[in-house]
Amino acid sequence: MLVRAEQGASALKIGGIAIMRLLEEKIKTDGKVISKDVLKVDSFLNHQIDPDLMLEIGKEFAKIFANEEITKIVTIESSGIAPAVMTGLQLNVPVIFARKQKSLTLYESLLTTTVHSFTKKETNDISISKKYLDENDKILIIDDFLANGEAALGLVDLVQQANAQVAGIGIVIEKSFQPGAQKLKDLGLRVESLARIESLANGVVTFISEKVEELI
Ligand code: G4P
Repeated sequence: MLVRAEQGASALKIGGIAIMRLLEEKIKTDGKVISKDVLKVDSFLNHQIDPDLMLEIGKEFAKIFANEEITKIVTIESSGIAPAVMTGLQLNVPVIFARKQKSLTLYESLLTTTVHSFTKKETNDISISKKYLDENDKILIIDDFLANGEAALGLVDLVQQANAQVAGIGIVIEKSFQPGAQKLKDLGLRVESLARIESLANGVVTFISEKVEELI
């Protein structure tokens, strides 16, 4: 667990920069670079989940978006759910996850869009029940990874179909060398990523923050 691994760093004492550094450290120590485009973080985010780390991530997103009057959080199954729920807990708002497969019990009318994953080379219809979003909602979108931006753009589309407002997008790991973040910013959307990876070249994770430090 994070708290044990960090020798008792109290969850409550961790501030903004600290959680970003902690996440970067976690990625460096536990992440595995699969190729120049793909990072495996199964041990704390995509398969086994580190609840302490997720809680800190939720607190940080809640702090970043504190002034946005968020009414609901929207994410996509499955790996977006853990950081989204922790953020919802902190902001005291409900969390909705878009489904990739039709649910047995989801029979009311749906907002639906199509998302193509370049990473997984698959296309999914994703949906949210119309009854959970409306024009009074200010939505925070949360997801684990931002690569080409297709999942986030799909979620933005669902929110807009409901005439709700996207107040911002919170990402745990942004692969900044891929075009997703820029696509979203070009639409005028606020994107806040806790870890920003500049490169996975030569099997090494390099963060944008490290480059910034080199320049100082
Ligand atoms: P995009 O949404 O930004 O365009 O990303 P892309 O289509 O390329 O990725 C779609 C899926 O692949 C997402 O998972 C995303 O989290 C995951 N993904 C993208 N890049 C990486 C990476 O470098 N490492 C890991 N571990 N995952 C990556 P998903 O299909 O929604 O699956 P799930 O894990 O949430 O169930």
